[in-house]
Amino acid sequence: MNLGVLGCGVIGLTTAIELQKEFPNAQVSIIADRFNEDTTSYVAAGIFRPGTSFMGPSIDITQKWITDAFNYWDDIRKTSDAPLAGVCQLSGYIFSTTSPSIVRNHFIEKLLPVYRQATEEELTLCHGGWKYGSFFTTVLTATSEYLPYATKKFLAAGGKIKEQKVTSFFDIEEKFDVLVNCTGMGAKELCQDQQLVPIRGQVLKIRAPWIKMAFYGDYDTYIIPSFNGVTLGGCRQFDSYNTEVCKYDSLAIRERCYGMLPSLKKAEIVREAVGLRPHRSIVRVESEFKQTPAGRTMKIVHNYGHGGYGVTTAPGTALHAVKLVRDVLSSSNMSKL
Ligand code: FAD
Ligand code: BEZ
Repeated sequence: MNLGVLGCGVIGLTTAIELQKEFPNAQVSIIADRFNEDTTSYVAAGIFRPGTSFMGPSIDITQKWITDAFNYWDDIRKTSDAPLAGVCQLSGYIFSTTSPSIVRNHFIEKLLPVYRQATEEELTLCHGGWKYGSFFTTVLTATSEYLPYATKKFLAAGGKIKEQKVTSFFDIEEKFDVLVNCTGMGAKELCQDQQLVPIRGQVLKIRAPWIKMAFYGDYDTYIIPSFNGVTLGGCRQFDSYNTEVCKYDSLAIRERCYGMLPSLKKAEIVREAVGLRPHRSIVRVESEFKQTPAGRTMKIVHNYGHGGYGVTTAPGTALHAVKLVRDVLSSSNMSKL
C-alpha cells in the first residue's frame, strides 16, 4: 500500500509518523516544497495553548483533538526522547487589564495539570497594572528541534521524502491509495479554498537564559522561553500576505515585551521572523474523492487550517486524519467486494 502526505510542516510530519504507526506495512511518502526553517511551523513559539476560538467540526471533536494532542506531547515529554524532540514542560502566566474572560480557557482549564487564578501578589510579578491573571503549567514543542527529529524518525521507519511544488493534485505522479493534504496556507490555491485566510505574525527570537516562565499580556504580547532562546511576540494581521519583517511591528513588539519585563532590554536579538498562520474558522479534517482527467479516483484526506494553533493541535488532528484514511481504505475495499 502507498500512502502520501503533501506538506512537511508540523502537521504533515506528525501525520506521516502516525500513518507509519497505524499502517506498518505501507510505504509512506512526503512531498513538499519547503522544509524545516522555511516553513511556518519553524516560526512558532511552540507553546501548547489553543485559542478559545479554535474550532473543528463540533465542540466534542475539537475538545478531543486538544485532549489527544496534549496527551501525545506530554507522553513524549516523559520519555528519553523529550530533549531530541524539543518537548518540555513550561509554566506561565496570562495577564489582562481588560477582561477576566481573556485569562480563562475552557479547552485546557481541566486538561492541564495546573490552571488556576493568579493571586494578587502574582498580578504584580511583571509591569502592566494587571487586573486579571491565570497561572498554568503546559508543554512546549520547540519546532526547531521537533521538525528535524520527526523527519529522522520518519525516514528511519522507511519513509520517503520528495521535494516538489505541486500546483494541482493531478500533478502528483505517484499513485497513492490515499493522499493526506497537510499544506497549510498552500491549500488556499490547491483547494481553491476561499475560507482559508493568512493571519500574519511576526516574532523576535532573543537570547535571555534568565527567563524561565512564559508571560502573556494584552494585545498579542507574549514572552515564551524555549530550548535555544526566547520568543517575543507578536501581532495578528488578518489577510496580510507580507512575509517581510516589518520594523514597526518589531518596535511595537519590543516596546510591549520590554514594558512587561525590562530585563529583556539586555538580551541579544538573534533573529526576527514572519509567518502566515493558515486560519480557517473551522479547521478542515475531512475526506474528498476527486476524479482525475485520466478518469482515476484520487482519495484525499485534508488536514489544514490550524491558524495560530498548529503546534498545539497537530497530534489531535493527525490522529483524526489517520482514522479517516482507514475509513477511506475500508470503504474502497468494501466497494471491490
Ligand atoms: P506549514 O508549516 O506552513 O507547512 C506546510 C507544508 O506544506 C510545507 O512543507 C510546504 O512546503 C507544504 N506545501 C504547501 N503548499 C504546497 C504545494 N503547493 N506543493 C508542495 N508542498 C506544499 N502554534 C501553536 O500551536 N503554538 C504556538 O506557540 C504558535 N506560535 C506561532 C507564532 C507565530 C508568529 C506564527 C506565525 C504561528 C504560530 N503558531 C503557533 C501556529 C503554527 O505555526 C501553525 O499553525 C503551523 O505551523 C501550521 O503548520 P502546517 O504544517 O499546517 O503549515
Ligand atoms: C501565535 O502567535 O500565533 C501564538 C503564540 C503563542 C501561542 C499560540 C499562538
